[in-house]
Amino acid sequence: MPDRLKEVPYPIAVVTTTDSDTGRFYGQAVVWVTQVSYEPLRFVMALGKTRYTPTILDKSGICVINWIDDPNIAKIFGRQSGRTVDKFAQLLPWQYELKEWFGVKLPFLTTGKYSVICKVKRKIEDTNEDLPGTHNVYLLAGGTVYENDGRGFLNYEYGSL
Ligand SMILES: Cc1cc2nc3c(=O)[nH]c(=O)nc-3n(C[C@H](O)[C@H](O)[C@H](O)COP(=O)(O)O)c2cc1C
Repeated sequence: MPDRLKEVPYPIAVVTTTDSDTGRFYGQAVVWVTQVSYEPLRFVMALGKTRYTPTILDKSGICVINWIDDPNIAKIFGRQSGRTVDKFAQLLPWQYELKEWFGVKLPFLTTGKYSVICKVKRKIEDTNEDLPGTHNVYLLAGGTVYENDGRGFLNYEYGSL
């Protein structure tokens, strides 16, 4: 990635989901997520092929995008993998709550500004043979937007976490 692009500021979000087989909660930090349509409400999100969270999202097809304001939560979700640790066990009890959507209990982070429930519409895999892309793209249908008690947004400065 060209160094100059590392200066572009992005608000930090955490995408959370639930394993439809075990009921366990997963999530990862994500800055490459943005709204792309008002009506219907749509988002796109890029998730790295080496991450564990997308393997769970591919099964559940449903997730929550939570914009956060706490660097410690960004570290919990962005600097370790759900393959080996339970990230939710590292949160304080009031930092997330469960809401049921489509018969699934999903974890919503409560410390940031907004959370939006989303369904996967399409997964676009980057399969370029010469240079396979590092990330896959998810097109998401947005649903209810929840306002939380958080102070605002947290912009990511590359290398700051
Ligand atoms: C601030 C921040 C932003 C990140 N943004 C993204 C992103 O947009 N897409 C992505 O795939 N990974 C992103 N990551 C990396 C993942 O969050 C990280 O690899 C995480 O440990 C993956 O966890 P998992 O294996 O449990 O899914 C970001 C990490 C940080 C700290």
